[in-house]
Amino acid sequence: MSTPRPQPKLSQRAAWCHDSAISFLMQQGVENPRVLSLAAGLVDQSSLPVAEVQQAVTELMRDPERGRHVLQYGTSSGAERLRGRLVEHVARLEGTTPDRLGIDIGQVVLTTGSQQLLSLLAEVLIDPGDIVFVAAPTYFVFLSVLHGVGARVISIPADDDGMRMDLLEAELARVEAAGELSRVKLIYLVSWFENPSGISLSAERRQQAVEIAKRWSKRQRIFILEDAAYRELRYDGPELPSVWSFDAEREHVILAQTFSKSFSPGLRVGYGLLPRDLVAPVCDRKGNDDFGSAHFNQHLLATVFDLGLYEPHAEKVRATYRTKRDAMLQAADRYFSHLPGVHWVHPHGGLYVWMTLPDRIDTSFRGPLFDEAVHRQQVMYVPGDLCYAGPPESRPNHQMRLSFGVQDVSGIGEGMQRLARAVERVSDEA
Ligand SMILES: Cc1ncc(COP(=O)(O)O)c(C=O)c1O
Repeated sequence: MSTPRPQPKLSQRAAWCHDSAISFLMQQGVENPRVLSLAAGLVDQSSLPVAEVQQAVTELMRDPERGRHVLQYGTSSGAERLRGRLVEHVARLEGTTPDRLGIDIGQVVLTTGSQQLLSLLAEVLIDPGDIVFVAAPTYFVFLSVLHGVGARVISIPADDDGMRMDLLEAELARVEAAGELSRVKLIYLVSWFENPSGISLSAERRQQAVEIAKRWSKRQRIFILEDAAYRELRYDGPELPSVWSFDAEREHVILAQTFSKSFSPGLRVGYGLLPRDLVAPVCDRKGNDDFGSAHFNQHLLATVFDLGLYEPHAEKVRATYRTKRDAMLQAADRYFSHLPGVHWVHPHGGLYVWMTLPDRIDTSFRGPLFDEAVHRQQVMYVPGDLCYAGPPESRPNHQMRLSFGVQDVSGIGEGMQRLARAVERVSDEA
């Protein structure tokens, strides 16, 4: 008789990360290859910058000395050459000049996608039981990151102007009354075209958010993490100032941005503009992970900027997505508008259309719609309940995140038609 093999004894942090929704969704995609995915947050395949990258690699490798330099390890905070370019780039986005930006190059940290920055910040700011405020709904992968460090996540309802600042303030007052203000560390805001809702925080609320963070920093500093992943994917609608722009002292707001959406996610280059006293903790923590993100890719992107290839490409990408956004909205009108109780957000940018169904239609993994959609109609969406914090039974579960990122125009039309059929089938049964 063989003795049972000892089981691994995983850490508490591993237990907190267990059951990640993103792994389940990816597994569904792999197991059902014929399924048309309106779930994947991947970017448009046909507009990826092959020619631009080829040109930049050739340029980068032209001088063998420079080639060897970029193939060597870099530093935890990343290549100075790209960080310098980013100061110029962000200044352009902010409508100012690099010397008026109010930061120096030492406050720019390059990471492996902006996702790594989100994770590093959670690591350096959050102890188990610390409080983080997020919008309801919000980016579900960041919710996993927060659970992974044992954060207590408090959801603040959002409306058409983004997170409700009056409700944020009311929650802060409640937390203070409970004697827990010292546990509040972070307010997380996806300020442009929120993933999943497509909604942007209004200019007024951006300013209020900074005022609130300052006013409630009575014991320790409360930070705002401004996740601006979709900032450069604006197709129409008003131009908005960043939340970061209202933080004149550059003390409260961390600005996280990425090249994944506007250029290429495969390069995995994201970056943060950090308050000065967060730079060393973030870089020390990052040193434990990787001693610095891909040095080669950082120089590649700097070369893309040097050759003037970035902006024209980003413009092309925006035009492609604008067309695909319109295609999804037209398909929504065509296939869903006759269904009672169904409505959706018209996003001015980003990659998602957020659709609400009647309450009785459960869109979660456990409900009949997901099964009907994936296994019979062969189309996949992201269940809306994943984008809310809190126990599963307390989350709204009649919404869907639909992405126009990865499908072409005809795939979008076909996917929306299939999804409408799935909704009709389960509505008949409900
Ligand atoms: C809101 C948001 N933030 C951050 C990220 C991370 O992207 P990346 O790590 O590719 O920069 C994503 C990716 O989809 C996102 O939707």
